[in-house]
Amino acid sequence: MIFGAASDIVTDDIFLDLAGFVPGVELNLKLEGLNPAGSIKLKTAVSLIEDLVSRFGIGPGDRLIESSSGNLGIALGTLCASRGIGLTIVADPNTNTAALRTMQAQGTTVVVVTERDANGGFLQTRLDYIRAALLRDRKLFWPNQYANKANSSAHYRHTAQSILKELPEVGAVLIGVSTSGTLMGCLEFFREHRPATRIIAVDSEGSILFTGQGAPRLIPGLGASLHPELLVDDGDYERVVVPEVEAVSACHTVARRYGLLVGGSTGTVLAAVRRLAPTLRNGEPVVAISPDTGERYLDTIYSEDWVADHFPGVGLVPAQW
Ligand SMILES: Cc1ncc(COP(=O)(O)O)c(C=O)c1O
Repeated sequence: MIFGAASDIVTDDIFLDLAGFVPGVELNLKLEGLNPAGSIKLKTAVSLIEDLVSRFGIGPGDRLIESSSGNLGIALGTLCASRGIGLTIVADPNTNTAALRTMQAQGTTVVVVTERDANGGFLQTRLDYIRAALLRDRKLFWPNQYANKANSSAHYRHTAQSILKELPEVGAVLIGVSTSGTLMGCLEFFREHRPATRIIAVDSEGSILFTGQGAPRLIPGLGASLHPELLVDDGDYERVVVPEVEAVSACHTVARRYGLLVGGSTGTVLAAVRRLAPTLRNGEPVVAISPDTGERYLDTIYSEDWVADHFPGVGLVPAQW
């Protein structure tokens, strides 16, 4: 199969049967990290760029600025590089070194803000930086993944569709939340096409999305220190909040038992499966969305030293042989 652009290589139909992860739960991991941008955010980036092209006709020579903890930055870089569009990404100290270096290799200008906001995160600082940059340079374009419906519509049109196509009887879908684009797009699709499916939103402890009090967190990608404009909190989905230590432990389990390195937010969602296990053992298939793979986390979640420093007590899971 020959593709015209790296961003056309979208892999939306790959599920791994995670039999035995939680006994009695028919668990399928939807692997979103197997495209050239390495994450679910490739679909979001395509949709955001299409939106800017249709609204403003952006093209070669234009420049975008966006806030990202890494994955959207890489995904936008995949598109911008091949279209001659300049890109500035505003990241923070939780962004992995591998993600920073990937963005720089794509020709992206990466700014790392270091000042924590009032909720212990960096999102407000990142957005303040963008707003100041937009005032300085009137020619900059901001896709704004936190408020732009093109973000959630990517998941309505692709992520949710592909889940229902593969598993028409799906009983529950677990989705990690940050901008809430994945959650909102899947929620809208399932409420229209299969309302019986439980939609379970998963957040990290220390994020303010479903609880009031924010605190510093270490795992990038999941959670937020500000309420994104896209997120509608209308009671139409379930919510689970998981401590980061359980996410790290779930990542180790999957690496040792299945030989698969998953990203930190996948660990968070799998920890939620563990917590909800008694309610998921009804014979209906469950889907957990895995937004990215583990290679970007070799220096953190999969580093014994990093884990010992930040989560003492989390031992590596013994191998199964
Ligand atoms: C690794 C990872 N997990 C989860 C998410 C959350 O997705 P969303 O922004 O659609 O809520 C993201 C988004 O950046 C991510 O990069």
